Amino acid sequence: MSTEREDAAMEDPQVDAPEPDDAGAASEAKKQSRPGRSRKLVPALVLVTVAVAAAAVTWLLTTIFEHKQESAASFTEVVELTDTSYDPAVWGQNFPIQYEQYLKTIEDTDGDFIPATPTADDPREYHTLSRIESETRAQRMWRGYAFAVDYTEPRGHEWALADQRYTERTGERFNQPGTCLNCHASMPEVYDELGDGDREAGFHAMNAMSYDEAYEHASSSIACIDCHDPQTMELTITRPAFIDGIRKAKAAEGVEDYDVNRDATNQEMRTYVCAQCHVEYYFAGDSKTLTFPWDNGLTVYDAMDYYDEVGWTDFTHEESGAELLKAQHPDFETWSQGIHAANGVTCADCHMAYSRVGANKVSNHQIMSPMASDETINASCLTCHHSTADEMRERVDGIQTRWQESLNVSFTALDALITDIAAADADGSASAEELATARDYQRKAQFVIDYSFSENGRGFHAPAYSISILNQSTDWARSGQLALRGVEVENGIGPAIPEQHMPDSGN
Ligand code: HEC
Ligand code: HEC
Ligand code: HEC
Ligand code: HEC
Ligand code: HEC
Repeated sequence: MSTEREDAAMEDPQVDAPEPDDAGAASEAKKQSRPGRSRKLVPALVLVTVAVAAAAVTWLLTTIFEHKQESAASFTEVVELTDTSYDPAVWGQNFPIQYEQYLKTIEDTDGDFIPATPTADDPREYHTLSRIESETRAQRMWRGYAFAVDYTEPRGHEWALADQRYTERTGERFNQPGTCLNCHASMPEVYDELGDGDREAGFHAMNAMSYDEAYEHASSSIACIDCHDPQTMELTITRPAFIDGIRKAKAAEGVEDYDVNRDATNQEMRTYVCAQCHVEYYFAGDSKTLTFPWDNGLTVYDAMDYYDEVGWTDFTHEESGAELLKAQHPDFETWSQGIHAANGVTCADCHMAYSRVGANKVSNHQIMSPMASDETINASCLTCHHSTADEMRERVDGIQTRWQESLNVSFTALDALITDIAAADADGSASAEELATARDYQRKAQFVIDYSFSENGRGFHAPAYSISILNQSTDWARSGQLALRGVEVENGIGPAIPEQHMPDSGN
């Protein structure tokens, strides 16, 4: 079912990443014990080193062996899974623990469910908190677009299909394409049906449909077959948009012909399966093809340059008349700019941490915030950080508070720019050229703020990067205000971006 190397990674994530909180202490200890005065110690040291290394190898092999036994024991094949085993309940017969955890993604783990009165149009008994009510500047930022009408906190995967079906954003007046469904339902079945077994063809056929029509073909929310190969249980990429997007991102780094299902390591797959959906996207052309804007790389500026190059606009702002972009959940792209990515720490390490269930060690399939409880923090963070749950909570809180403070500054600046453009447009106090410059600054500032606001780690996935891009957006918004007053700002252009690299896999 899996290789030895994978099992080693499963057993002990520290093997792949340095132990951060101990690293300083360890090098300090090394410095103090450095002999310096005596060469006689050297042969003894060599012997000790060899002995320690041998013991470590023995330990590792034993661990791998034990783990192999363990995973072999945990799997009883009750049913044979095939390419058409779409129903997660069938997979559940072979893997009851993972199935049970998976079903629990319906639970409220963030404490943000609010009771609702079911109606014929919206039968849901619980919604999550509205993000445009709690941040009215976001509502204003999106005026003229569907997100100004309905935008809520995310919740677990079991909700993905229903929340999309019943949001006002898929209501009649917004006329959405079938493309929406790509990340909110189990796709292999839909693609097979619409493409007569050719999944790529099915993908294109679905994108070209109306949302309502496509929805009729979906039978479940995100399922086992969306992330796993049914025969080998290995992680697999089922979404054409990611296969295409990551190939372009790799090409931008000089890696030609990247085929993710052929070339990615298991460690990388532990991030890539999530990056099929937790990314910024748009619907390209009349075919409404789901596309990720990664031709230039994975930063927010790379995405913005891409949209400028292809001349893309999502909507025209109702008050200011600026032609704007909308950003959606760039969780993967933001993670890729952070310190965990640089150390090979994957989405699954934090959001699907291993835990022991009876005699088995399983990846928690109740995918949620790692900060949900002491238990999840222990399983997710303390495998690498030698700390306490409270201290980890404080660190995350600290990062998210600073991010929120920066976001506030940026939002205030953008809000002021919108007010100024609308006023200058109404009273004729700015020239057509000044107005155009100011609107262009709005486009830039809004995309970056939107990007960071829509990213679900609230600054955690890449703390320094998130604050740095917000800084840039504040400057752009204030430069727009100055432009309306005839002042040209020299630093109102994007910073020189150092060459970007995809994170190392950590192996
Ligand atoms: C590339 C994958 C992808 C596509 C395509 C996609 N979504 Fe989502 N959607 C997500 C992810 C990931 C989340 C959870 C993270 C979040 O809420 O930011 C989400 C969350 C949501 C939510 C719940 C939170 C909210 O935004 O109110 C709704 C509703 C939703 N999407 C509607 C839509 C609609 C309508 C479309 C088509 C216009 C669409 N989605 C297309 C990936 C996608
Ligand atoms: C097929 C698309 C898809 C894939 C693959 C996917 N997600 Fe999601 N994810 C979503 C959508 C859509 C939502 C929002 C559902 C809603 O709010 O109704 C979501 C919600 C979440 C949430 C919020 C849960 C909560 O309780 O608030 C987390 C965390 C998450 N996903 C992490 C992951 C991780 C980690 C992976 C990879 C192991 C992953 N997702 C793979 C589409 C996807
Ligand atoms: C080092 C650990 C770590 C890694 C790696 C990581 N995350 Fe997170 N993630 C977090 C933390 C911490 C939060 C903030 C949770 C909170 O505020 O409750 C978070 C929040 C989220 C949320 C919102 C959850 C919620 O309940 O609102 C989503 C969705 C998400 N991450 C997806 C991803 C994806 C996709 C990846 C990989 C590309 C990833 N994360 C990588 C730690 C991590
Ligand atoms: C959003 C993606 C996703 C979905 C959906 C998903 N899994 Fe997984 N699954 C993972 C990841 C990531 C791993 C870790 C694999 C690794 O590191 O090799 C995993 C591991 C496993 C394993 C290996 C043992 C373990 O727990 O680590 C089994 C068995 C498994 N999943 C069964 C299922 C079943 C059954 C379902 C449906 C009920 C399911 N998975 C749905 C992502 C997913
Ligand atoms: C697989 C190992 C691993 C896991 C799991 C992990 N981390 Fe880390 N973390 C690291 C490494 C490695 C670093 C970088 C240390 C360095 O280079 O100084 C790091 C750095 C950090 C930092 C400093 C961030 C910065 O930008 O300077 C914070 C905060 C942090 N981790 C919190 C968490 C939290 C919270 C969790 C659980 C949700 C978590 N980590 C899970 C390995 C891990």
